[in-house]
Amino acid sequence: MAAEWCQPFLIPKKILSRQRPREARKVLTPLPGLFDLALVPQGSRPRLLSDAPAGAECRMDLMPAPIMIISGTNRANSNALRISKIVLGHYQSAKIAAELFNLEELPREVFEPSSYLQKPAAMRVIQQRVLDAQGLHVITPEYNGSFPGVLKYFVDMLKFPESFDRKPVAFVGEASGVWGGLRAVEQLQMIFGYRNAHSYPDRVFIPQVKDKFDAAGNFTDAGINERLKKQAIGFECFIRSVCNIASQPPPV
Ligand SMILES: Cc1cc2nc3c(=O)[nH]c(=O)nc-3n(C[C@H](O)[C@H](O)[C@H](O)COP(=O)(O)O)c2cc1C
Repeated sequence: MAAEWCQPFLIPKKILSRQRPREARKVLTPLPGLFDLALVPQGSRPRLLSDAPAGAECRMDLMPAPIMIISGTNRANSNALRISKIVLGHYQSAKIAAELFNLEELPREVFEPSSYLQKPAAMRVIQQRVLDAQGLHVITPEYNGSFPGVLKYFVDMLKFPESFDRKPVAFVGEASGVWGGLRAVEQLQMIFGYRNAHSYPDRVFIPQVKDKFDAAGNFTDAGINERLKKQAIGFECFIRSVCNIASQPPPV
């Protein structure tokens, strides 16, 4: 079967654990987090995965690594998480592989002072997700004129220098104030710059964030939603172009 037969889908683990038949397992790539990446026939819906003909060849090497969306606070019921879920939805609609990491999921043990020397096992899994991600999409609130301390701690817990080296990174800022997290994003960019990441230039800032959602957690402001969608699609193009540039031999 030709490789074009396949297209990647992110499918919630919950659904897969209930529905996937044994013969479909070979076309799945387990990912940390809530989703697994599965290849399914062009035009089919993920729930038709079980209809894949036995022995169908799926090119695992064509499967993109996901973009990792990082919800940049561990504050309960955060707007950062609300926005991160919306951004994830934009990637999924565009059939771009993406997954969400919420800093609330940081293992408690990582806050032990010994973690600088010896990473807890759960943190090593998160570390691997960062290394594997084809890009990082950071959603940060503004706390005291900067980004949250827990986000800096997360950065400090990741391997130096490989975690962000040449890694494409996109930024969204959000705050109660009128600057929409501009200070938080710019300070964060300085750190990612220090770590040799490639910053995606199109940032999105969301001012007066708490007034921007309806009861269902959707944006009341269509303009913001559109900017986030455009940013997600543009970021994926940016990643592809950055990767192509990186794969060229250096000029002699
Ligand atoms: C600790 C803390 C500090 C804050 N400092 C600022 C600030 O400096 N500027 C600002 O505009 N809003 C500030 N806020 C308001 C937050 O930007 C606003 O509540 C935002 O929605 C919080 O993001 P979150 O819901 O993702 O946690 C602060 C909120 C918290 C909890």
